[in-house]
Amino acid sequence: MNKQVLLASHPEGEISPENFRLAESEVAKPAPGEVLVRNEWLSLDPYMRGRMSKAKSYAKGVEVGEVMVGQTVGEVVESRDEAFKPGDKVLTSLGWQLMGVAKAAEVHKIDASRVPASYYLGILGMPGITAWFGLHEIGLPKEGETLVVSAASGAVGSVVGQLGKIAGCRVVGIAGGKAKCDYVRDALGFDAVVDYKAGNLEADLRAAVPKGVDVYFENVGGEILDAMLARMRVFSRIIVCGLISEYNATEPYGYKRLRSVLVNRIKMQGMIVFDWKDRYGEAIKGLAGYLADGRLKYRESVIEGLENAPRGLIGLLKGENFGKQLVKLGV
Ligand SMILES: NC(=O)c1ccc[n+]([C@@H]2O[C@H](COP(=O)([O-])OP(=O)(O)OC[C@H]3O[C@@H](n4cnc5c(N)ncnc54)[C@H](OP(=O)(O)O)[C@@H]3O)[C@@H](O)[C@H]2O)c1
Repeated sequence: MNKQVLLASHPEGEISPENFRLAESEVAKPAPGEVLVRNEWLSLDPYMRGRMSKAKSYAKGVEVGEVMVGQTVGEVVESRDEAFKPGDKVLTSLGWQLMGVAKAAEVHKIDASRVPASYYLGILGMPGITAWFGLHEIGLPKEGETLVVSAASGAVGSVVGQLGKIAGCRVVGIAGGKAKCDYVRDALGFDAVVDYKAGNLEADLRAAVPKGVDVYFENVGGEILDAMLARMRVFSRIIVCGLISEYNATEPYGYKRLRSVLVNRIKMQGMIVFDWKDRYGEAIKGLAGYLADGRLKYRESVIEGLENAPRGLIGLLKGENFGKQLVKLGV
């Protein structure tokens, strides 16, 4: 039998376990041109909160009764397409379930001989690729500039900061709590870090970036973005990658410092990673190279068992993860 997590109801505000339902079904049979995959790892990502909502967004939402969306890494069990054979390790979009049938064109073979297969959901997957293109194509960091990134210990933020160091920037992270801040500075090698939970956000930011900020990579929004607008230099850039502090909110945050965009001629651009889908290979090659020569460090946060995936997503949206959030399946 297959196990799946379905959307049970659309949440209003914070998500809860009642928004999900565990279901069992027969394992489907692949038709010609399809493969049956046993999922080993499920990625949990902040965008999933948006897909649970009825509000219109850049991608279609999940309907009540449908399997929750998500990327997985797993192994081909049965193939009816010549490009795949049983035992192949693959990246899929089969969602929150133990097994699933996918069209061969929507399954990607991965090379798990040099890195763990789960890395293709994190540093060599969607979050790493987001960091790569967001920073390089929108942020345009130059040697000697100051780069700030929020959610700095997370899947995207940790890669952004380390790529910023490689580009020769002075890098400052913003993260919640001592353990994450210590990790960002001591293990990832950022030049400074601001703990936004310490209660002195504006003053601590001012002290951390005395000359102002050239590139700000935004993952969080709300109060942190408002505080950062006051720190931006003339002709600086802001990459709006995510606004996680607002995902569970019922009202949008009221920004107060838009004037800084005008006065400082800030270039502020939103990004969605799939605008670069034809160039993902370029990012994966670059990231894999830095990973291999030790210039990129990476950390995972693992929850065991499909039935615990709802708890994992609820925690991710509150900052309970420490590193890329994954669910280990089949345990
Ligand atoms: N645009 C795109 O294509 C794209 C692609 C991937 C990800 N993203 C966005 O990038 C951001 C980071 O995603 P990720 O996958 O790397 O997640 P992550 O950073 O690994 O995990 C989320 C982190 O966000 C922080 N957070 C949660 N609630 C917060 C709040 N209310 N205020 C401040 N910080 C909060 C927490 O860190 P602290 O404990 O440090 O607060 C938490 O650990 C998200 O906004 C996501 O939507 C965008």
